[in-house]
Amino acid sequence: MAGYTDAPTRVFAKQYGCGITVTEMVSAQSLVQGNWQAKELLTTFEDGPVAVQLFGHNPDHFAQSAKMECLKKFDVIDVNMGCPVKKIVSNGDGSALLDDVERAKKIVLAIKNNTDKVVSVKMRLGRTDSTGAVDFAKAMVDAGADYLTVHGRTATQMYSGVADKVAIIRVATAVSVPVFANGDVKCKEDFDYYCQNGCHGVAIGRGALGRPYVFAKLQNKDYQFDLMKTMVTHLEQLCQITQERVAVNEMKKHVAFYMKGVYCGKKLVVNAMSAQTKEEMLAYIYDWFNDNGTHSFSRT
Ligand SMILES: Cc1cc2nc3c(=O)[nH]c(=O)nc-3n(C[C@H](O)[C@H](O)[C@H](O)COP(=O)(O)O)c2cc1C
Repeated sequence: MAGYTDAPTRVFAKQYGCGITVTEMVSAQSLVQGNWQAKELLTTFEDGPVAVQLFGHNPDHFAQSAKMECLKKFDVIDVNMGCPVKKIVSNGDGSALLDDVERAKKIVLAIKNNTDKVVSVKMRLGRTDSTGAVDFAKAMVDAGADYLTVHGRTATQMYSGVADKVAIIRVATAVSVPVFANGDVKCKEDFDYYCQNGCHGVAIGRGALGRPYVFAKLQNKDYQFDLMKTMVTHLEQLCQITQERVAVNEMKKHVAFYMKGVYCGKKLVVNAMSAQTKEEMLAYIYDWFNDNGTHSFSRT
């Protein structure tokens, strides 16, 4: 998720049993143009399979990106065909591709022709309705997609309403490749439902923010979660990736998610918002746990 699933977030996801992590979306055009900010998004700390997600509309940019040295460490190249944000769609990127199946196919083919890596597509059910979801999914598979991740909403829905489980399963049972169901998955019941009805697994976005242990919960695995240690590590790792000022600002969003639902957590969220440096942010975190105790936040 752009702005959220940075390398530390993904490290924690893996530690709690997530099978494959995906980078924030990275512009294929920016990679080709050598943009350093795009390359920063390619930082990985996690072990095991990682997918890099590219967005764009020009098959040639995808073809060139697929061959780049900086993508060598990734196991999967995933194409974003779901982003509904106006500035992305107006460029013909993201979910705009759902209405341009020929271009979408060319993009998948362009990657396939330039890499031996697994290629996947992240799609929504359609731009305005879900009637074309199965045909679109089949077209992506015909073009060479090795698996699909299907967010059970249309692009015009953005994030409103609930994910359409039946429509996701319709796609999963119509194509010959694995399908990961996505949208509002938070509990084991959803996970089991999808797995028992033709999906290969699930993809979790918002449900993992501040709660990386969701992956253990879904798989009935024992886990321990040390909130303070997680936040401190998250900040330290962000500082390794980017400038301190940027890392501290990024961390503010994460603190809000980590503290969501924690008794008296708002105080830390408010303090963290005013932090300018790593030291200040760390001091706020340590102070809060000093005042509130660490023991109650080591959940098992
Ligand atoms: C802030 C934000 C950023 C997102 N960025 C991306 C992205 O870069 N690539 C992508 O495939 N999906 C992105 N998504 C969509 C999520 O991956 C996911 O499809 C959607 O949130 C539904 O799943 P969830 O309920 O598990 O979050 C983003 C969603 C949000 C809220």
